[in-house]
Amino acid sequence: MTGAAGGPAIEDTISGLRARLDEARARRRRVGLVPTMGFLHAGHRSLMEHARSENDLVVVSIFVNPLQFNPGEDFDDYPRDLDHDLAVCAQAGADIAFAPAQQEMYPAPVATSVSIGPLSDVLCGASRPGHFDGVATVVAKLFSIVGECSAYFGEKDFQQLAIVERMAKDLSLPVRVVGCPTVREPDGLALSSRNAYLSAAERAQAPVLRRALQAGAAVVEAGETDGAVVEAEMAAVIAGASLARIDYAAAVDPATLARGRPLRGEVRLLVAVRFGRARLIDNLGCRAG
Ligand code: PAF
Repeated sequence: MTGAAGGPAIEDTISGLRARLDEARARRRRVGLVPTMGFLHAGHRSLMEHARSENDLVVVSIFVNPLQFNPGEDFDDYPRDLDHDLAVCAQAGADIAFAPAQQEMYPAPVATSVSIGPLSDVLCGASRPGHFDGVATVVAKLFSIVGECSAYFGEKDFQQLAIVERMAKDLSLPVRVVGCPTVREPDGLALSSRNAYLSAAERAQAPVLRRALQAGAAVVEAGETDGAVVEAEMAAVIAGASLARIDYAAAVDPATLARGRPLRGEVRLLVAVRFGRARLIDNLGCRAG
């Protein structure tokens, strides 16, 4: 299938995508992959631009992956708009939009699951059991379909990035995983497809995630090494927003995602907060003395 003039080619079969990419690599073209669930925004666009700057051929996958949603989560309601997504791909200069139907990706119930235990069960994994196994399984599948490439993920989903990096390393997949900086609204709110769920009042309070992280980083940089004190500081800032319900505020080792040690060297601060039906996450790096 070919896209509209000037837009990406649209591919909806695994075999078709593989054939195109094998042919490109035979001509020594570097392949960049941006995995997405669609409803693309400026954050995805910056991933595509990053991929564009480092590769000859950029593939954007657009697939709302049922495996990573728990019963009762927003799989059915997850926002979808393929025409809009293709326009964003065109603006960012993506070459191929891989938009498979569910039947193409999962023609039969999936019996194989990729699980990165210690990294998957904490933080977001604690309140969304099985979520990261679903993410790792579909990303492993995408890496297998696309083959040798560089793959671009946003740092906003810091835990996801750590899990995907670890999976690629553990399984010796021929993929270079590249983390890219979070893109924000002018008031500091990290871009997310789920921001679409926020009411006007919730949207007005949502930058509290960023403010909490900055307050936590200031405490760390002032010399605090007790992670619990830093977490309490972030939680207190979030508690100041009347519509916010905190899921967690954590200070962790960026490689292991482990809490509960004196903070030393690189530290990652992460928060997850519910506003109505939206569950928002954000994170920030800092250095303990
Ligand atoms: O970050 C996302 O949008 C998804 O978790 C991903 C990586 C595309 C897997 O479905």
